[in-house]
Amino acid sequence: MNNTFAKDIIDGLTNEQKQLSSKYFYDDNGSRIFQEIMQMPEYYLTDSEFEILSLQAQQIVDALAFQQPFNIIELGAGDGFKTFKLLEYLVNNSVAFNYIPIDISQEAITILTQKLTERLPQLSITPKVGDYFEILKETSKSKTPSLLLFLGSNIGNYSQEDASNLLTLFNKNMNRNDKLLIGMDLKKNPITIHNAYYDEGGVTKRFNLNLLIRINREFDADFKIDDFDFYCHYNPVNGEVKSYIVSLKAQTVDIKKLGVTIEFKQNELIWTELSKKYGLSEIEELSKKANFSIKKHFLDCKHYFTDSLWEKLD
Ligand code: AVJ
Repeated sequence: MNNTFAKDIIDGLTNEQKQLSSKYFYDDNGSRIFQEIMQMPEYYLTDSEFEILSLQAQQIVDALAFQQPFNIIELGAGDGFKTFKLLEYLVNNSVAFNYIPIDISQEAITILTQKLTERLPQLSITPKVGDYFEILKETSKSKTPSLLLFLGSNIGNYSQEDASNLLTLFNKNMNRNDKLLIGMDLKKNPITIHNAYYDEGGVTKRFNLNLLIRINREFDADFKIDDFDFYCHYNPVNGEVKSYIVSLKAQTVDIKKLGVTIEFKQNELIWTELSKKYGLSEIEELSKKANFSIKKHFLDCKHYFTDSLWEKLD
């Protein structure tokens, strides 16, 4: 894990167009800053998905059409609480299911499990730490039907090609009739999207710059954080928010543990993140590519976000 991070730093910062992947944002500090982002009013994604899972739980269960007890497997559950409303509804309505949250962070899973067993003592829960696909391979061996959850617009961080590869891999590890509920952020007024990522309080800026702090700590680098800034923009034509770290001056940075020195020109960029916004027809296309059919889109009342229910085709 740490090895691929090291390799990605070297590759990314010696590239013609410098880049560092947002998947490395989430150390303990980064995860805390992301919790702050989710609480900002500008970051509408959280509220929209919360509304969908709170108000449309019954419609979601109906659309699953499972005739027997089933698994709910959450990919990247985190220590967050986005799924609580759905789980609560199901437990209170005596729907028979087992919840299997998966995350790579042991700490996140421990916290989540503690909170959930406290607040929903009747919940049947089998937490797992590790690689999505190894765990999916195991669970797909049983005859119990499964609902996979991939929420929070996490798919938005993937390029078109990576997204369809990832979803194809999910598909290959599912059984016929299994379902996937996938959270996707929709195209909308560009200003609304801009404000969610270019927030006035600078929380998203801290989220990005924390990556440099992390590299300073883990690889004994000397990024001077004040000499870097954050910039992002939304392109309403292709639906892409792209985020960057900006070098405010010409400077060199030593990354001692990696034995490299990186030169920055003034205003040179490090691309950090893609947050893709979808149109409904693009979602349709993506589902087909990965061998799914769409059963239903569950939208919030403002039509900002969709949790879309996909069924595996044979
Ligand atoms: C967790 C990937 C869905 O792209 O909207 C929030 C992360 N980045 N603000 C997103 C994020 C900047 C978020 N995802």
